[in-house]
Amino acid sequence: MDSFHLSFVWEFYEMIRTAFAMAVPSISYLLFSVLFFLIMLHAKMFCMAVSSEEDTKLYVVYMGNAPSQDNGHSYTTAAALHLDMLESVHGSRVAAEESLKYSYWKSFGGFAAMIFPSHVQQLLDMDGVVSVFESKQLQVLTTRSWDFIGFPASAQNSNLDYQSDIIIGVLDTGVWPESKSFNDAGFGPVPSKWRGGCQTTSDFTSCNKKLVGAKFYRSLSGPILERDFLSPRDAIGHGTHTSSTAAGNYIKNASLYGIAQGDARGGVPGARIAIYKVCWISTFDDTCTDADILAAFDDAIYDGVDIISVSLGGYTSPKYFEDSIAIGSFHAMKRGILVANSAGNTGPDKESVVNYSPWSLTVAASTIDRKMDSQLLLGNNISIEGTSLNTYTMEQPWYPLVIGADICEHYSPNIINVKGNIVLCHSSIIVPDRFIFYAGGAGLILIQEGYDDVVFPYLIPTTVITAKQAEVVFSYINSTSSSIAKIQKTTTPKVQAPIVASFSSRGYNPITFDILKPDITAPGVNILASWSKNDPLTHNTQETRFPEFNIISGTSMSTPHIAGAAGFVKSHHNDWSATAIKSALMTTAFVMDRTLAGNGDAEFGYGVGQINPIMAINPGLVYDAIIDDYINFLCREGYNDTTLRLVTGDFSSCDSIEPSKNGGRQLNYPSIMVVTIPGEPIQAIFPRMVTNVGLVESTYKASVSAPSGIDVIVEPDTLSFSSLNQKLSYNVTIKGGSIATNTLLSGSLTWSYANYTVRSPIAIYAIPT
Ligand SMILES: *[C@@H]1O[C@H](CO)[C@@H](O)[C@H](O)[C@H]1NC(C)=O
Ligand SMILES: *[C@@H]1O[C@H](CO)[C@@H](O)[C@H](O)[C@H]1NC(C)=O
Ligand SMILES: *[C@@H]1O[C@H](CO)[C@@H](O)[C@H](O)[C@H]1NC(C)=O
Ligand SMILES: *[C@@H]1O[C@H](CO)[C@@H](O)[C@H](O)[C@H]1NC(C)=O
Ligand SMILES: *[C@@H]1O[C@H](CO)[C@@H](O)[C@H](O)[C@H]1NC(C)=O
Ligand SMILES: *[C@@H]1O[C@H](CO)[C@@H](O)[C@H](O)[C@H]1NC(C)=O
Repeated sequence: MDSFHLSFVWEFYEMIRTAFAMAVPSISYLLFSVLFFLIMLHAKMFCMAVSSEEDTKLYVVYMGNAPSQDNGHSYTTAAALHLDMLESVHGSRVAAEESLKYSYWKSFGGFAAMIFPSHVQQLLDMDGVVSVFESKQLQVLTTRSWDFIGFPASAQNSNLDYQSDIIIGVLDTGVWPESKSFNDAGFGPVPSKWRGGCQTTSDFTSCNKKLVGAKFYRSLSGPILERDFLSPRDAIGHGTHTSSTAAGNYIKNASLYGIAQGDARGGVPGARIAIYKVCWISTFDDTCTDADILAAFDDAIYDGVDIISVSLGGYTSPKYFEDSIAIGSFHAMKRGILVANSAGNTGPDKESVVNYSPWSLTVAASTIDRKMDSQLLLGNNISIEGTSLNTYTMEQPWYPLVIGADICEHYSPNIINVKGNIVLCHSSIIVPDRFIFYAGGAGLILIQEGYDDVVFPYLIPTTVITAKQAEVVFSYINSTSSSIAKIQKTTTPKVQAPIVASFSSRGYNPITFDILKPDITAPGVNILASWSKNDPLTHNTQETRFPEFNIISGTSMSTPHIAGAAGFVKSHHNDWSATAIKSALMTTAFVMDRTLAGNGDAEFGYGVGQINPIMAINPGLVYDAIIDDYINFLCREGYNDTTLRLVTGDFSSCDSIEPSKNGGRQLNYPSIMVVTIPGEPIQAIFPRMVTNVGLVESTYKASVSAPSGIDVIVEPDTLSFSSLNQKLSYNVTIKGGSIATNTLLSGSLTWSYANYTVRSPIAIYAIPT
């Protein structure tokens, strides 16, 4: 009975997952999860109608800065405090002990525990508590890319000695340690600063000098699903893909069964990797929970990583300190560790970005210059450019072509006219490749409208065509009594790029309107990288392809490109702050072409533009910010002294800084976002301060590209430096008439000296009121 129920859920899940992924690829994972969750919730509510008892739920109690370990602070003292707090809500020590899931104590304070929703206020009222929030579920946001962005292996390998001191921490689904991307041949001893660990089990026996750390975090009770591993081992492939993209070794001749053949490599191939497994296979898609994500941040920051890559997202929090990735990134930034996090996969709707804290780097996804074509040949010698990830080479020269009827909707053993044939299906909901496979069909032509920038693999040779292309196929079928066709293996012709991916989440920033988000874009469409040997290509039980490399898309894929590039910058400038590294990546980005189809959302799609790692190591000037700048930012956002002191662990105070509506303008940010009210004239001042990291003596001149009707005044417009690390200030004043609701104007301010160019985009937007 139990197993029947489970397999039903799994089948149902797979069916909707596939159907949904294909129907609306851009929003597949997030929306699918929501849909499935709602369906299951209804089912659950139905079953539980008889029981009205309130259940305990997993909550995070965040308590700000962690006391210094020099003063005797330890796991024991932290846990004792947390248990006292829990005892006072639960009424007994035993219940407190049973409820506590994590004590955070190394990098920040707080804990995760099972409590009743009615306990929330009681805990909030206790000394030292900043926020209490339910541990929410997040999802993973599913090699030529480096060459495409102008970052050849030769440039990348110029300072391997320094790279070997860099450790990139990745919070994800784990890692496949046997992948060549993590082989430690040629690597020297693990850097002495590393104090993390390797959590070994029978199925994950060791780390090495490349993969220096691996841990797993699972606070949710109950057994893991059969396909997963209770260890840092990656059952799904996602974490193997992201970590090999960030810092995987150089691997010659990588491909997915010959598709996208080339050399695979991470952004800093000489760096080390530490993996923190926080995501697990579950009936509700692959999920990760806030409590585990914070436990991983608490460890990673303490362990000694230099950069953190987080390809996760799932909800929009109205407060920075009720969001696990924002909290973790804040404490990471305080210790000089830059966090790259994903914009999300819920584009192209406006305001869909899911990670937007000003101290993190938010990454959009864009295309590279290759397309994934799977050509359809018809018997009359007409060929049609379908798209798909088709690894199969068909054996016969031709196959009979038939129009699919019922088989396009469901499998039935009585269906005839499928075996040995290529079947044409018009299906926007269900992807029928498995039905046709079960019925012995030779191939599938799927008519589907929508997003042709993302391709998927299928169980049988499949190509996806548009309704317009399908007219040609129908008229061919009508013209002959014996129609025949053939589907070709995927080829990768060149196309114009970069273009922001349809699925990539767009700005504006939902909380602090005047901080532009996403910050930057990187390749995230059809990216080849290492994969878990546990994961069949199409997730179908009949699937026989278990690839070493896989091609997938998402802001999950672009984020580790940025983390790798950040590691590369860090390997050249070990003393730079997280904010300086972020600035270097942003002000040197490749400027995107707003006029290309797909790039119409401009800065809300791509932020400053596409990363350019080689330029980022020589930015000339950086917009740095220290912790006080972020504290002042939080004051303007309305956080009070009590909260600030907890978060910083010192006597920070807002003093005379009042909360203000456009407070984000004051933060020394590398981009300029002007938010206006429709119908009102524009008048905004942005104070900025640059630090000289270029030549000792240098004089930079400002040049402005202003949208028509807008005045951009830079004062002063010349900055003369006479020493390194010297800081100079200037103001940008932006004035103009009113603009219409939902209009986004783009301009830029560039400081230039010799061959240095330091560019900040200026985005002006009228937010609907
Ligand atoms: C490269 O990989 C392809 C596909 O796996 C294989 O057919 C080919 O022989 C390899 N070439 C070299 C030079 O190893
Ligand atoms: C298709 O092209 C081939 C080779 O060019 C030719 O031999 C054949 O006659 C053509 N068939 C039709 C139906 O045009
Ligand atoms: C093909 O024939 C069918 C039925 O004979 C007709 O309904 C359809 O419009 C035709 N399609 C094309 C593209 O000629
Ligand atoms: C500070 O803000 C917190 C959270 O909004 C609130 O609970 C607390 O009462 C405030 N403290 C003061 C002194 O205003
Ligand atoms: C920028 O403007 C403010 C007033 O808004 C002024 O106090 C400050 O001196 C100006 N900074 C520079 C560098 O001109
Ligand atoms: C500018 O040129 C100098 C000398 O050729 C070079 O050393 C430096 O790296 C260049 N800077 C940038 C930003 O390209």
